[in-house]
Amino acid sequence: MTSHYFSLARHALLTGLQCAGLKIGAKVGMPRLICSEVEKSLRAADFQIVYYHVSEGLHPIQLSTVVEMCEAIIAVNYFGFPANLDYFREIIGNRAIVLIEDNAHGWLSRDSRGLELGHRADVGITSFRKTIRSVDGAILTLSSHLDVPNMAELGPSIFQINPGYRARDWISQVESKTHMPMMNLARSVTRSIRRASVKPSHGVSMDGIERPRRPHPSSMVRLEKTNQRREIERRRDRWLYCLQESAGTGITPVHFDLPSGVCPMGFAFYGSKEAARKYSRRIYRSGIEVFSWPEMSCPSDSVTDLDYYHQLWIANFLQ
Ligand SMILES: Cc1ncc(COP(=O)(O)O)c(C=O)c1O
Repeated sequence: MTSHYFSLARHALLTGLQCAGLKIGAKVGMPRLICSEVEKSLRAADFQIVYYHVSEGLHPIQLSTVVEMCEAIIAVNYFGFPANLDYFREIIGNRAIVLIEDNAHGWLSRDSRGLELGHRADVGITSFRKTIRSVDGAILTLSSHLDVPNMAELGPSIFQINPGYRARDWISQVESKTHMPMMNLARSVTRSIRRASVKPSHGVSMDGIERPRRPHPSSMVRLEKTNQRREIERRRDRWLYCLQESAGTGITPVHFDLPSGVCPMGFAFYGSKEAARKYSRRIYRSGIEVFSWPEMSCPSDSVTDLDYYHQLWIANFLQ
C-alpha cells in the first residue's frame, strides 16, 4: 500500500481513479446516500455515475445490477463503521472492477479483523479533517499494484485560512485544555464571522472545477501531533453517551452497538425534525452539534430517493 496526502478526499478520489487506469467517461457506481460534493467532482471530471441504494442499516441494496454496469464501485464506511467489503468482492467476482473504499468518515477506525479502514481496497480515501480539527486534509491509499500519482504536478497548498476557522480552532484548543464546553460559543462566533466573510478563491480553475492540491502544511502538523489513542477513546465515549441519551427522544439510532475497532465520526440517527431538535437540546450541554446529513444533489430521472435518506442526522464529534 502507498499513501499520498491531499487537501480534500474528493481530490484523492479523482487521483485514485486515474491511478487505477479509469478513463474519461468510465462508469462509477456509488451509493445515492452521499454528499453532493463527491458526485459534483466526479461529473466535473467526466465520469458517469450509476447509483445504488442503501438500506436503513446502510447496507447496499441490489448491488449486482449496478456492478454489472460499472468499471469502478465505491463502498462507503458511513460514520466510521466498516462497510462489508467481502460482500462487495463477492458481487464483483472475477470482473475487472476497481473497488474503492470511501473512508472519508473513518480515520483511526478498524474492522472486526483489526484492519485499518481506508486500507482494505484497491483505492482508499480518508478525509482526516472530519476527525481532527484541521483546515483541510485527506489521504489516498493505493494498493501496491497501482501507479502512484505524480504529486509534484499538484496545485500548491498555500491559501489563506479563513477567520471563522481560526476562531473555532482557538476555542477548541482552549476547550480541550480546560475541559469547559465552549464549542457552543464557538459556533455562534463563527456563524457571525462566516456571515461577514467572503470565501477565498484559491484552487479553483477557470471553468470553476477545483483542482486536486496538496494539504495545507498546518494540517499535516495536526495529523502528526494527534494523540490517536486518546482521540479513539474520546470518540467512543461520546458515542456511548449519545446512545444513552437517545432513550425517550423519539429518534432511532442507525447502529445500536459499537464494535471494538470502530472510531465513530459521530452518532447517526433517524428522526423527524422535531425529534432531532429535542435530542439536540438534550446533548447540547456536552457541546455536540447535530446536523442533517448528507446534503444530497437533486434527484434526477435516473434516481428516486428513499424517504429515510431525508431523516438522517449526525451528532458530530469533531472537537
Ligand atoms: C462519504 C463521503 N465521501 C467523501 C466526501 C468528500 O470529502 P471531502 O469534503 O474531504 O472532499 C464526503 C464529504 O463530506 C463524504 O461524506
